[in-house]
Amino acid sequence: MNHIQALSNPIFKIVSQAADELGLDCYVIGGFVRDYLLDRGTHKDIDIVAIGSGIELARKVASLLKEQPKVSVFKNFGTAMLRHGDVELEFVGARKESYHRDSRKPVVEDGTLADDQNRRDFTINALAISLNLNNYGDLLDPFNGISDLESKIIRTPLEPGITYSDDPLRMMRAIRFATQLDFQIEQNSLQAITDNKERIRIISKERIVDELNKILSSNVPSLGFSLLHKTGLLPFIMPELVALQGIEEIEGQRHKDNFWHTLEVVDNISKTTNNLWLRWAALLHDIGKAPTKKFHKKIGWTFHGHEFVGSKMVYRLFKRLRMPLNDKMKFVQKMVLMSSRPIVLSEDYATDSAVRRLVFDAGENVEDLMTLCEADITTKNPKKQRRYKNNFKIVRQKIIEVEERDSIRKFQPPVSGEEIMETFNLKPSKEIGIIKEAIKEAILEGEIPNEYEAAKEFMLAKGKAIGLTPS
Ligand code: CTP
Repeated sequence: MNHIQALSNPIFKIVSQAADELGLDCYVIGGFVRDYLLDRGTHKDIDIVAIGSGIELARKVASLLKEQPKVSVFKNFGTAMLRHGDVELEFVGARKESYHRDSRKPVVEDGTLADDQNRRDFTINALAISLNLNNYGDLLDPFNGISDLESKIIRTPLEPGITYSDDPLRMMRAIRFATQLDFQIEQNSLQAITDNKERIRIISKERIVDELNKILSSNVPSLGFSLLHKTGLLPFIMPELVALQGIEEIEGQRHKDNFWHTLEVVDNISKTTNNLWLRWAALLHDIGKAPTKKFHKKIGWTFHGHEFVGSKMVYRLFKRLRMPLNDKMKFVQKMVLMSSRPIVLSEDYATDSAVRRLVFDAGENVEDLMTLCEADITTKNPKKQRRYKNNFKIVRQKIIEVEERDSIRKFQPPVSGEEIMETFNLKPSKEIGIIKEAIKEAILEGEIPNEYEAAKEFMLAKGKAIGLTPS
């Protein structure tokens, strides 16, 4: 079947011309072809495989383009890359590869298109479309990739044990594609992943996190995390999550399985936000529950202080996975630390001052925090579900009202430290802190509005109360 319509970008005509001028065969392969056939929008990374030198082909393509783009050459890998408009073209010579057991770095030899397709990870990623003029648009599908696309199956071209052991990152990729595309991993592949799970150790943390981020960014991330769990990969990546699994029962009292609960929360939040870091917060919001779990005869199971412990664990987990220890990490920590605050409010009547304190502490992240807590409602009891949701609505409404009145979110003390010093003729001292704190408390408690005049009056009264006299 011809697939000329996949090649609507004029760049393909140029690649075709360059290849014909050099007298070598070339094909577009991999993600571009897969996503075209799946109608997933245009893939911006275009992989071109040449039967011959990919680097030479890249240089020829660049010379035929008006803008003469820069060609980046990676000699060790035999690849070359250039940018054209909004696409990135990567050129590689067809190759045959074999791997050492302790490395992802293959021994590379020149090969045929068939050799090249064989060494690829999945049948759906081995589909190639010819670019030479004589067979422009022809699809080459030696492993029934089309049929696997139709039946939504992740399958390896070679015996799966070889494909995964050669490059263990593919275990993560299989799970990531299954999650992104809602495909099934074929049984032998699943078994091979399970058998090779320990080889994930040779993969860099950065690459693992790339895949985790793609899983977390999917519509239903739990598909990926349950596969990571099922294949036994998860303990190598996030033992903290595995530790949440299981239900314990003592004296007839059970707690919920916090691993499966967490996955439900992640799926819930993925329906309402694409913010990756908020999704991370959902994934990690209960990790402090494993180390804090206790059973008390009178009250049953408790997870005292799990939010605080969890927020500390976020730092260690990010560090171990070489994730950025920046404001994103701090955001996740803050969400985990505060993850129970709105819940407590929603269980009972939420007073204005409690809402004001919530807005004060969460600051500009208060909506995200609410989103996290709403996703945390996983009760199967429809009555409770309705009640919690309704209470959250009320809390959200109160947040708006309190904001309108007191603008607490970006709280700035209405009376400055300098003014307090001037008023009472003070040098820097602890009294200033006491008065400032008292003003803030009075505002949060709703005793005074968040306004200058009221705060000044309050300052004078408070100063006198602690024995100061205005100058
Ligand atoms: N590939 C592979 N094994 C890997 C990585 C990549 O065989 N570990 C091959 C696949 O044929 C893949 C192609 O290289 O299609 C390009 O890889 P990459 O750009 O990483 O992924 P895409 O398939 O393009 O998909 P995505 O952009 O969604 O990651």
